[in-house]
Amino acid sequence: MAKAAPAAVKKQIADLREKLRHHEYKYYVQDDPEISDAEYDRLMARLTALETANPELVTSDSPTLRVGGTARAGFETVQHARPMLSLDNSYSYDDLREFDRRAREVSGHEKIQYVAEHKFDGLSISLQYEDGVLARGITRGDGRTGEDVTLNVKTIRSVPLRLDPAALKKAHLPGTFEVRGEIVMPRKSFEELNRQQEQSGGKIFANPRNAAAGGVRVLDPSITASRRLEFFAYYLTVDDKAPFPKHSQSLDALKLARFRSSSDWKLCDGIDAVIAYCEAWDPRREKLPYEIDGVVVKVNSIAIQNELGFTAKAPRWAIAYKYPARQETTVVNDIRINVGRTGALTPVAFLEPVQVGGVTVSRSTLHNMDEINRLCVQIGDTVLIERAGEVIPHVLKVVKEGKDRRPFEMPKKCPECGSTIHKDEDGVAFRCVNPSCPAKRKEWLLHFAARHAMDIDGLGDKIVDQLVDKGLVKDVADLYSLKLDDVQNLERMAEKSAQNLLDGISASKKQPLARLIYALGIRFVGERTAQLLAEHFSSLDEFAAAGEEQLTEVGEVGPKVAAAIAEFFSEAANRQLIKKLDKVGIRPTAAKRTAKSDKFAGKTFVFTGTLANRSREAAAELVQQHGGKISGSVSKKTDYVVVGTDAGSKLEKARELGVTVLNEDDFEKLI
Ligand code: IVH
Repeated sequence: MAKAAPAAVKKQIADLREKLRHHEYKYYVQDDPEISDAEYDRLMARLTALETANPELVTSDSPTLRVGGTARAGFETVQHARPMLSLDNSYSYDDLREFDRRAREVSGHEKIQYVAEHKFDGLSISLQYEDGVLARGITRGDGRTGEDVTLNVKTIRSVPLRLDPAALKKAHLPGTFEVRGEIVMPRKSFEELNRQQEQSGGKIFANPRNAAAGGVRVLDPSITASRRLEFFAYYLTVDDKAPFPKHSQSLDALKLARFRSSSDWKLCDGIDAVIAYCEAWDPRREKLPYEIDGVVVKVNSIAIQNELGFTAKAPRWAIAYKYPARQETTVVNDIRINVGRTGALTPVAFLEPVQVGGVTVSRSTLHNMDEINRLCVQIGDTVLIERAGEVIPHVLKVVKEGKDRRPFEMPKKCPECGSTIHKDEDGVAFRCVNPSCPAKRKEWLLHFAARHAMDIDGLGDKIVDQLVDKGLVKDVADLYSLKLDDVQNLERMAEKSAQNLLDGISASKKQPLARLIYALGIRFVGERTAQLLAEHFSSLDEFAAAGEEQLTEVGEVGPKVAAAIAEFFSEAANRQLIKKLDKVGIRPTAAKRTAKSDKFAGKTFVFTGTLANRSREAAAELVQQHGGKISGSVSKKTDYVVVGTDAGSKLEKARELGVTVLNEDDFEKLI
């Protein structure tokens, strides 16, 4: 009989489990991890080792026996037809060789052909197609049950909603099958999202993976839509089985069926070729528009895959090789303030320059005071920083407190113009409220000229700095009165580039109303909101004159956004700006109104169950066309819950809260 484990080991195991559960909750449920993946893996490895040495202490609820996270309340949970497995991880080429050795031993083959693929860093999802139509999108959840995020997934453009029968035929696929893949957020969208979050004092995402996961696991599909997510397909089953003799044929079929899948996978004869692939992609992965965190290695032959089979958690025929994290430690030499377009003051850590994955890093944003407090970071501390691709590096934690450390204090006056600083009521942001603060003006001009705004080529930060410093431009309208002489005399400007810039400025006069509204840089008004506002109001004047009440009639514009717009136009300088823009010839054409009526203005609908007459999306669209709003969850603010067949917990919640419940007939009558 094995000797009983000492109490100290029991305690160690209990502590590790508790820690892991906490970090799993932060990671999987809140999309807000506190530690790096590598650290999490280390904790897990420690627990696994202790449990292996003391098997009598393994309990069925140990984190080591689990596939993933738990479902977040609010989505309907669904049982996976078969467990949705994850992959075993490896961190060295030795691990890969060991994986290959075992595979060869079990299968009796001397050399195995592998498919090496990118390991996308996002949220894994199962898409079920029935008769060529997307029926369900389900997250992995804990591997056995996931969350039904169909409505959200449908907003991702790279997810086909209906497959072309001719394409399916070409791919030799029936209409009913399951595709697994990853939802990722491209680097550009991630940077833009965090810029917007920073300005609005919202939550800052640590990396594109968390932002993607957060974007899918929200109850409001319009948020998913606004995140510009992408889907990459990498695994296919028909009737729960691989449909072709080789995995590479599945990848080809996915492409032929018009799924988005990476073309960068490679057939590798033997493990050496796999290792060469991993090596080749390590420096190249930086240049991809999205992040990969490793390489997935799969046995190509399905016959050999079947011989190898599965463990309780993962297939034995595949393994994930993870690239070493790009983390380094360095010293915070200073913390200084950057003043943004909306006046938001962002603390920036000035670091002792350090090489992280081949790039010298000397700055890192600290986002806001809350982040500084959360990290407990002070000037002089040694910190662990992480750089994900080209994304600005962020501070993960303090690893050693500096001997002469000193806390950072938010200045009382704007470091650029000396004006008083205000703290946002609702958020964590501090702002300079001086409308003519030069730092704000510069950021505003850059935003105005940005590609998704007025798209003025050649108006970069060096030019903007000079235009503001020389007093040539005080607001965005002044751009349109610039003369060739003004521009030509700036540094780095030749006559030709000066003329090009003026042409670019002039061409931007034709941009549509939505872009102009976005370009104005009003807090909380991102591209999507600007688009909705432009569809609602026929001109800039009408928009500027709208009161808060009128603004909230626009779908998705809540009281917070309406108040920010009203505040913007309550400033005399901004009202003056609208007049000035009109004077220089900026009169964007009215966008067509799509609303049919406003009979549901101010009303919020929740749909649950399956409707007989139309899809949930079509019903939601109808509500929006009549000015109503859609929500994914029932609360006291819900006006109607529309129930179809198989309605779930939302119906109960509605009854509990006394919200009006409509069946489909009632809803049709209401429309
Ligand atoms: S195959 C049964 N292929 O990595 C096979 N997974 O660490 C299922 N992932 O759970 C997975 N890129 O979310 C596969 N090319 C790829 C992948 C990939 C990313 C994710 C997936 C998986 C996790 C394992």
